[in-house]
Amino acid sequence: MPDIQAILDQMTLEEKAALCTGASTWTTVPVERLGVPAMMMTDGPHGVRRVPDVTSVGAPSLPATCFPTASCLASSWDPSLLQQVGEALGEEAVALDVDVLLGPGANMKRTPRCGRNFEYFSEDPFLAGELAAAFINGVQSQGVGTSLKHFAVNNQETERFRIDAIVDERTLREIYLPAFETAVVKGKPWTVMCAYNKLNGAYCSEHHALLVDILKHEWGFDGLVVSDWGAVHDRVKALQGGLDLEMPGPQERRVRAVVEAVRAGALDEAVLDEAVRRILGVIFRAAETPKGGQFDAAGHHAFARKVAGEGIVLLKNNGILPLQKPLRIAVIGRSAKEPHFQGGGSSHINPTMVDIPFDEVWKLAGAAQLTYSEGYPATPAFEQALIDEAVAAARAADVALLYVALPGFIESEGYDRADLDLTPQQVALIQAVCAAQPHTVVILNNGSALAMSEWIDGAAAVLEAWMMGQAGGGAIADVLFGKISPSGKLAETFPVRSANTPAHINFPGGNGQVRYGEGIFIGYRYYDAKGVPVLFPFGHGLSYTSFEYRNPKLSAAAFNDVDGLTVSADVTNTGPVAGKEIVQLYVHDRKSGLVRPQKELKGFAKVDLKPGETKTVTIELSFRAFAFYHPGYRQWITEDGEFDILIGASAADIRCTASVTLRSTLKLPCILNRESTVREWLEDPAGRVAFAPMYQQIEVQTAAMFGGGEGESGGIGMDPTGFMMEMPLLSLLQFQESGLPMPADAIVDGLLQQAHALAAR
Ligand code: BGC
Repeated sequence: MPDIQAILDQMTLEEKAALCTGASTWTTVPVERLGVPAMMMTDGPHGVRRVPDVTSVGAPSLPATCFPTASCLASSWDPSLLQQVGEALGEEAVALDVDVLLGPGANMKRTPRCGRNFEYFSEDPFLAGELAAAFINGVQSQGVGTSLKHFAVNNQETERFRIDAIVDERTLREIYLPAFETAVVKGKPWTVMCAYNKLNGAYCSEHHALLVDILKHEWGFDGLVVSDWGAVHDRVKALQGGLDLEMPGPQERRVRAVVEAVRAGALDEAVLDEAVRRILGVIFRAAETPKGGQFDAAGHHAFARKVAGEGIVLLKNNGILPLQKPLRIAVIGRSAKEPHFQGGGSSHINPTMVDIPFDEVWKLAGAAQLTYSEGYPATPAFEQALIDEAVAAARAADVALLYVALPGFIESEGYDRADLDLTPQQVALIQAVCAAQPHTVVILNNGSALAMSEWIDGAAAVLEAWMMGQAGGGAIADVLFGKISPSGKLAETFPVRSANTPAHINFPGGNGQVRYGEGIFIGYRYYDAKGVPVLFPFGHGLSYTSFEYRNPKLSAAAFNDVDGLTVSADVTNTGPVAGKEIVQLYVHDRKSGLVRPQKELKGFAKVDLKPGETKTVTIELSFRAFAFYHPGYRQWITEDGEFDILIGASAADIRCTASVTLRSTLKLPCILNRESTVREWLEDPAGRVAFAPMYQQIEVQTAAMFGGGEGESGGIGMDPTGFMMEMPLLSLLQFQESGLPMPADAIVDGLLQQAHALAAR
């Protein structure tokens, strides 16, 4: 690594400004006289989309392995697998002369209608963060950088270039930032890509609080922040906001604007230098890995099949799966011959090869006879003849394998889904085939939740095969014939219908603004809180075997928050075949100062068990597993009290519980102020001490004034104490001012002084 500061010192203002904006769609500006090479960035996330013509956005890319997209990867709940996927991607990036792979995407699935959900991991920030970190570590272990995207709060495609996401601070901290935080802290990505949208009024590309205060300072991010392609509006403001590298380029006018701003004193040159330092750091890090060579296409294809097999989720099974050597199999559905294995937009990979699901069934079906019927056309058009033909084939077979994929253009970058439905033809096809053939297995290819209520009762089994990557056709066959026992579990809730989803009435917003009105209650946090039934809960997935959970153990019955807690449980494979179980740990706070979700995922583990085998699963919980973000204190806090530890097979299938007492070691500052209510005074440890001497007298006076002073219910039919609790102390005293020795505000200011002094001791 050369001396970055020495290079920076030799750069002219023009050279520095030029380095901060791309040279082409995919490369940075080289500074040849100082030996600074150009750096090549390429999409991401689940494959390397290396476009040979660096001036083109969407030209055909070089062949590369298309791995399953993030929804499928996430359903594996397996960080070590994601690390291996990252390693394979890193190898391909090296071979294809790529320095930085633009992924992973760590945005939350706020709504299943986001068109780009297939590129994101989960509705849960803990799970998404762990997976993103593992993915990053894998890619970067090969000497190739990553770009964690899209930072932040890019949860929809509608108006994505300008929408202003209005999100309260707690929701931001508890839901929309933690996956990025974990990925940054544990994965140390070389770059982070800012989102297109605005957050609470400011473009993310100019958002100082987001890019500088939180990302760079609080989380210690030492790489560069790159813009999403075209996300910069004002180059100078963006630099001031912490955006180091603008892409794509060239953008002559922007470079000139930076030079002029420095000359005019409108932009501190130190800000520019800081951006240049970060960019040079990444460029030279990338340059340490020589590029070129070959990657093992066949090996990666085989690995992609394994990965898809880990992510496929068996949603429903009446026992028909695994298939027991049927003699006649009706394979139905276009996607059996034309697989839908990835989504639309910048992540679209030119695969090295593609498994055809029909062929893969044929390879494993032994002596069985196979028929094929198309079932539905490539477009959403309705063609009854295709349904009739499929029904006849299904009737003449022992089993129907019905492959249904959402039409390719429905899930894409750039726009959102109108609903969660299959096409009318596909629904009618499933209904008709299931009616004709009770042994029908529905195999789905899509990138995010689907509504299934219209047809699921008729299906004998349903496999969610996601956008399964180029080798997914083989993985489906592996699952159908029991070569592997399915072990994937949903990383996102499947709702009954779109109208039941948390963001429904606040999505996609309009007129340039979307309000995150559901707050921290997205995904299972919402369905739990509202008691809204779902189609399949978060964490759900069936297996060909069964698992028993026993013996939950905690490292202590009471613990100090900073010491953390170790939880273990025994899991036994009680069924007939080997299988993997994803054990989920949720934490429930029995009582808290601010409303909290009923449970939150704070740990998970995947165990591989032979029939009859038992393993002890151990999960460590740290301070953050019990804390919530308090916008008053502007920090993560814990409170003394009881917590339930819930260990289960899904968010709706808790198998064992234990409880524990947490002792908070935090010494919180006093945040009482003139607006603080009587309740807040009494709840605050220092406030209570300061206020106690006055309390009784005030209570009596309040009762006399508002409630008649007698009994629980006073003269105007209310509980005066309850009424008083929700009033600011100052407002309450103002009503009683005539009887007070000094003005109400002087009294409150005096109490505040006392309380703050006490708390500071
Ligand atoms: C997408 C990014 C992508 C970039 C480059 C943007 O439109 O939002 O995810 O990396 O283009 O293709």
